[in-house]
Amino acid sequence: MLRFIMEFSLFGRNFTQKTGILELMDDLGQALAGDGEVSMLGGGNPASIPAMNEVWRQRLQEILLQDSGVELLLAQYDTPQGNPGFLQALARFFKERFGWNVGPENICVTNGSQNAFFLLFNLLAGEWGQGKSRSILFPLAPEYVGYADQALGSGHFHSRRPQVVLQEFPFFKYYVNFEGLELREDTGALCASRPTNPTGNVLTQDEVVHLAGLCRRSGVPFLLDNAYGTPFPGILFEDVEPFWDESTVLVLSLSKLGLPATRTGILVAKPEIIQAVTASNAILNLASSGIGQSLVLPFLENGALWELSRKIIRPYYLEARDFAVQAAVEIFAQRFPFRIHRPQGALFLWVWFPELPIPTRSLYERLKARAVVVVPGEYFFFGMEDEDKDWNHRRECLRLNYARPKGEILRGLMVLAEEVELAFGLPRR
Ligand SMILES: Cc1ncc(COP(=O)(O)O)c(C=O)c1O
Repeated sequence: MLRFIMEFSLFGRNFTQKTGILELMDDLGQALAGDGEVSMLGGGNPASIPAMNEVWRQRLQEILLQDSGVELLLAQYDTPQGNPGFLQALARFFKERFGWNVGPENICVTNGSQNAFFLLFNLLAGEWGQGKSRSILFPLAPEYVGYADQALGSGHFHSRRPQVVLQEFPFFKYYVNFEGLELREDTGALCASRPTNPTGNVLTQDEVVHLAGLCRRSGVPFLLDNAYGTPFPGILFEDVEPFWDESTVLVLSLSKLGLPATRTGILVAKPEIIQAVTASNAILNLASSGIGQSLVLPFLENGALWELSRKIIRPYYLEARDFAVQAAVEIFAQRFPFRIHRPQGALFLWVWFPELPIPTRSLYERLKARAVVVVPGEYFFFGMEDEDKDWNHRRECLRLNYARPKGEILRGLMVLAEEVELAFGLPRR
């Protein structure tokens, strides 16, 4: 039979449907391709920090000058678990600095942490046989949009509405609502990013300990996404202790150290989980990229990674955050109601316009037409229950990336203010 239209399997259809993330990435690409002035506040790209670029430039030169440097960097597959020297150095770092009871058997490397989550979600949730299935529970929505389409099936994600607490103006903060939060028999894992993309929230130590305790008692893994957090890359503006215990799968990444193109994710977990991810990695990738591991290894061995995070990365983003918050407050003040989620880490401002008459999805379109790219908040509330459908807050927030040049941020905020004013039916200033 001749087929004129390309057809795909269920898997293919799942992955080629117009997902939120695909649409946004398309928009970013198209906006970048134009030649006018664009405020690109939508993507998740980390800042290009000159001092960090210099660190990696020097390290690359050092490798290239070594005998067999190129061979070590480019010309070999690592084991599917990762480079043995890197695994050992990481284990020693965690053990000596934080007293965690881990060895190389507790660590594996993936091609980016995005890839790690794909494997974890589908190893721990989905069809379970005999008509049963398991799901991932996100204890606090909104959560990272990059998780939303990763399950090989539908209905495998559930997320919970948080407590919304107003703080001193202009801030508010989400807290986990523990009332009624229980792990069911079909809960495969709990998952949270800390700091959270999109909000910059940092779960308190009490919240983390409480969630880990729930998981430990139920024998369910606690996936803790540390793409921005401590001990590295350190885009964290509060004193927070790194957290790991036997029930936790801590997922780290080299991306926000300035190395997103090396695609390096790191898992710290009990050996059974490491073995399962390693086996899956072998099937999907043979091995993960070794470039990031080679670049970072000496900085792990001499402890400098910790220093780079605290002395270069954190101050850089702190300055950018303070600039963005101050600019938003000055530009929005006295014009319409707004609040900003307390930006405790990561590289985003999560702005809430209470009672905004149009959904931020529409606001996004209007802004895009004026060359300002943001991410509408709706996408980050995936997996919510039907009873939360009428919760308007989901349509009143948006995410701005502040790791951008100051001119772009100022212009973007000014255009945003004009469009919010229009949406509220207020006269333009
Ligand atoms: C919360 C969170 N987790 C995971 C990732 C994936 O990062 P990567 O695959 O570059 O390690 C990102 C990317 O921005 C993120 O924001």
